[in-house]
Amino acid sequence: MSTTPCRVVVLISGSGSNLQALIDGQHNGSLAINIEAVISNRADAFGLERATKASIPAEAIEHKNFLDRDSFDQALIQKIESYKPDLVVLAGFMRILTSDFVRQYSGRLLNIHPSLLPKYQGLHTHQRALDAKDDIHGVTVHFVTEELDGGPPIIQAIVPVLENDTVDTLSKRIQVQEHIIYPMAVNWFANKRLSVNENQVLLDKEPLPVNGHQIDSRD
Ligand code: GAR
Repeated sequence: MSTTPCRVVVLISGSGSNLQALIDGQHNGSLAINIEAVISNRADAFGLERATKASIPAEAIEHKNFLDRDSFDQALIQKIESYKPDLVVLAGFMRILTSDFVRQYSGRLLNIHPSLLPKYQGLHTHQRALDAKDDIHGVTVHFVTEELDGGPPIIQAIVPVLENDTVDTLSKRIQVQEHIIYPMAVNWFANKRLSVNENQVLLDKEPLPVNGHQIDSRD
C-alpha cells in the first residue's frame, strides 16, 4: 500500500454529489487520496461550492469561452497539469473529450456512467431503461478511452427497476450506489491495486471480468 496519498483532480459540470463522496472519504480517512483541485466547465456548478467548503482549490474553465473543443481541452490540460495529478476523475463532467486529452491521461482517467455499460452509452440512460422495461439498471465506473462511454469497466452496481419507478426515483436509487462504487474504484487505484492493459482491467494483477467487478444491490 502506498504511503503518500494519490494526487487527484476531479472534473465536474454540476451538483458534485460524487465529488462529495470522495471528499468525505478523504476526510474520514477511508480513501488514500488528496483532492488537489476541482475544475468545472460551468462556473455555476454547485460542486465548486462543495470544493471551496472543503478548502480544495475550485476553478471554472468555461467551455463556452473557447472557439472549439480542441482549444478548450488544451486549456483544461494545462490547468490540470499545474496540479500534477496521479489520477483524473470525471464526476458528472458532461463534455466529450478530444483524443489528445484522453491520450494525455491514458490509464489514469476514470469516469462514472449511469448505466450497465455497454448498454445505454450517451445520454438519458434512466429514461431509456424505463422505456425498454428493463428489470435491472445500474451504473458503471470505467477507464476512459477514445470511444465515448466505451472504456473497460472496473466496477458496476446493479439496481432493480421497480414497477412504479420514474426517472427521478430510479436515478436517486442509482446515485446511492454511485457514492459507494466510485470511492471504491478510486481507492483501488490510489492503493495501486488497479491497472489497465489494452482494455483489460487488472485488480491485484488479476484480470477482472469484462463487465468489471459487480455489486448487486438486490442481494
Ligand atoms: C451522475 O449520476 C453520473 O453518473 C452522471 O452525472 C451525474 C453527476 O452527478 N454522469 C454522466 O451522465 C456521464 N455521462 P453529481 O454531479 O451529483 O456527481
